[in-house]
Amino acid sequence: MLGVLYNMKLTRSNKNFVPDANKAFKPTAMQLSLSKSIKQIPWRNDYRIDNGPLDNEHFALFGLINRFNINVLRFTSAAQIMPFMASLKEYTEEHFELEEELQRKSGYAFYDDHKMKHALLINELNILTKKAKNAKKDNVTDIALEIGLWLQDWLETHFLEDDLSMKPYINRMQDPSRK
Ligand SMILES: [Fe+2]
Ligand SMILES: [Fe+2]
Repeated sequence: MLGVLYNMKLTRSNKNFVPDANKAFKPTAMQLSLSKSIKQIPWRNDYRIDNGPLDNEHFALFGLINRFNINVLRFTSAAQIMPFMASLKEYTEEHFELEEELQRKSGYAFYDDHKMKHALLINELNILTKKAKNAKKDNVTDIALEIGLWLQDWLETHFLEDDLSMKPYINRMQDPSRK
């Protein structure tokens, strides 16, 4: 449900979200090298956890992050980054709530630790949103790169390590032979 919602929202805000190429812009060697360390992370079927709403939300998150990161060197103003940050904030508010509810229902053993990691992600998102809001022409690329690297780490660390650790608990909860 949220995945569909997100795709719709992004389609509507596409004009702002995917900036036009700025042909006059020449990234520094450092910016270029940082941008090259930001990879597209494709969704895979074995990333599915509940075969339902949680997977749809994760799928949407991958889309959101990959779309930001493929454009990371094209942002030229705060106004271009902010629609993305707003989508991400809305996403996290709903997504973390659903994920934590499933963790409680399934008896997930690392609930407290995971909840704390969600709080840290929200905190970092707020810090980066503030930075993005105040971005000026001369630092917008560095801020976009900082956000891009953080987003990549979200997928590689939080999703691939922490979220996927829920899978056996959700599978057990969904196994009809255990009811
Ligand atoms: Fe999580
Ligand atoms: Fe998640």
